[in-house]
Amino acid sequence: MIKSIAVLTSGGDAPGMNAAIRAVTRTALSKGLKVYGVHDGYLGLFKGQIEELNRRSVSEKLGSGGTFLGTARLTEFTDIEIRKVALRNLRIYGIDALVAIGGDGTYRGALALSQMGLPVVTIPVTIDNDIAGTEFTIGFDTALNTIVEAADKLRDTSSSHRRCSLIEVMGRNCGDIAVATSIACGAEVCIAKETGYDLEAILDNIREAAQHKRHAIIIVAENIVDIEELAKTITKKTPFEARATVLGHVQRGGKPTVRDRVLASKMGVKAIEALLAGDNHHCMASKANDIISMPIEEALNGDDTAVTLKEYEVFKVLW
Ligand code: F6P
Repeated sequence: MIKSIAVLTSGGDAPGMNAAIRAVTRTALSKGLKVYGVHDGYLGLFKGQIEELNRRSVSEKLGSGGTFLGTARLTEFTDIEIRKVALRNLRIYGIDALVAIGGDGTYRGALALSQMGLPVVTIPVTIDNDIAGTEFTIGFDTALNTIVEAADKLRDTSSSHRRCSLIEVMGRNCGDIAVATSIACGAEVCIAKETGYDLEAILDNIREAAQHKRHAIIIVAENIVDIEELAKTITKKTPFEARATVLGHVQRGGKPTVRDRVLASKMGVKAIEALLAGDNHHCMASKANDIISMPIEEALNGDDTAVTLKEYEVFKVLW
């Protein structure tokens, strides 16, 4: 019987993490559970940085960016000896189960703990939207809005100068951010792992755009091409002078959008309900406007590339 839970955020932060912590905390308290917050993710679990949370601990957190619990990337968590220390620390506080909030690395850590006997549920929070099984991860929508706002500004200056603007966006190995923002800002070219990289086709598109527009926008997913080099090539081989902008970590900051706040709140409530219903190695996922609970392994082994490519088709039709 679960009487006490811990909640942590791990991996890269994303807007909506605080909203998820709040929803988990308040739902658990309303069910009569004790709630503990772990600072700095799995690192804090290893170090025993654990404190009890109450309703007031999560007041005025819903709309704030980042994570007030702190986060970290701890690659050493793959080591069973490190995880044994983490479990011992949970036992010291009498904690029966864990809610882990984060991306795929967080999921792998949680799964490993569940295989050692700890009931665990996870909530998908990452700007990358790279978790299979859920249509949206928390943080994705806010990052898209941040990027589109920046792209709109870059379009203004590009248009004034008759330039091509290359904008590198995050996503790690997933093109969802690149594809969605390309649609949303009417980019001329979208480059992502799933869509492939064909330099000649890109140059043709830009030359064509130059015939009837004063600007061109290229959205480039990170880890594909050196955008400074690509900008030089475009300047040399098309009528446009090109400039490269790497948006970087600004994409991870800021207040969560309404959509991310609502998604985080719904998933936080569902996570506690699922845990108390006996789901002990599960993750939350959004499906057809509902929140479902599914095994973490299924999410880690799944592949949503087809969904990304379907969205890319929309981009191509509208270009
Ligand atoms: O997973 C989120 C993310 O922002 C990725 O898009 C990016 O590749 C990575 O984290 C950057 O990680 P870090 O903040 O550790 O540099």
